[in-house]
Amino acid sequence: MKVFRLGSDARAFRTASAAASIGFVPTMGALHDGHASLIERAVREHDLAVVSIFVNPTQFAPHEDFAAYPRDEAADLAMCERIGAAMVFAPAVDEIYPLGDATRVRPGPISERLEGSARPGHFVGVATVLTKLFSIVRPDVAYFGQKDFQQLRVVQTMSRDLGLGVGVVGCPTVREPDGLAMSSRNRYLSADERRNALALSAALFAAQDDWSRGQRDPTNLRDGVKRAAAVPGVALEYVSVADPLTLDELARPAERALISLAARVGRTRLIDNVLVGMKLEEIA
Ligand code: PAF
Repeated sequence: MKVFRLGSDARAFRTASAAASIGFVPTMGALHDGHASLIERAVREHDLAVVSIFVNPTQFAPHEDFAAYPRDEAADLAMCERIGAAMVFAPAVDEIYPLGDATRVRPGPISERLEGSARPGHFVGVATVLTKLFSIVRPDVAYFGQKDFQQLRVVQTMSRDLGLGVGVVGCPTVREPDGLAMSSRNRYLSADERRNALALSAALFAAQDDWSRGQRDPTNLRDGVKRAAAVPGVALEYVSVADPLTLDELARPAERALISLAARVGRTRLIDNVLVGMKLEEIA
């Protein structure tokens, strides 16, 4: 497995393997089994799998956890090698944002609700770094987890709108046996907080059950999630029942929905979602 720090080396690797199909998994490191499932899929479906490890400063607001974000490059590289990645691109910040860097990619309205409104500027940072990484790695397909569903839709829309020629594929959220969605930020949770955080996935699974029993009213679905997640130590930021493609909040019953939430558990901000009435593979 090659490990490159410079964009020029990663580009040269791509140029030298021009005939190969490349599956790409962009990450911020602190890899867990959710990332492993993305890398495994890239390895399975392509000649070569490439992983990037880069904690992207432009997608964090000044008060967020950029400095504290977990970093464990040795463990990350070991995982990539074990799964069979051909190349890891792990640049320093000034390789991606050299002195004088000023260009930003501003995604459209799909980036403005939910996480976009809770974290202003976040998706500009995500779209900008992915545009840079896609132009270096030139993948055929890039893989993203369903847990960051809005990110998946923002990147699909960006790739289509800018004609980047990168297929953007969503992969199911990987969960702990007790239901907690895997996230690098779970490392911040104390044992008590981790127990409290289980209310989030439990509330979403209950909404999924309501849906399968025929509940379609978005207000009832939202209220059900709010009630189920109202446990001590969990501060809900939002609960959304939205169209899965546009992420417009549903006002009337619909045949498909993304039920999502964001919450603070202690100082840790967590997000999670379930998709109902539609399969993840249909999201493109
Ligand atoms: O989901 C992430 O880890 C990041 O947002 C990404 C896609 C690697 C861009 O920095």
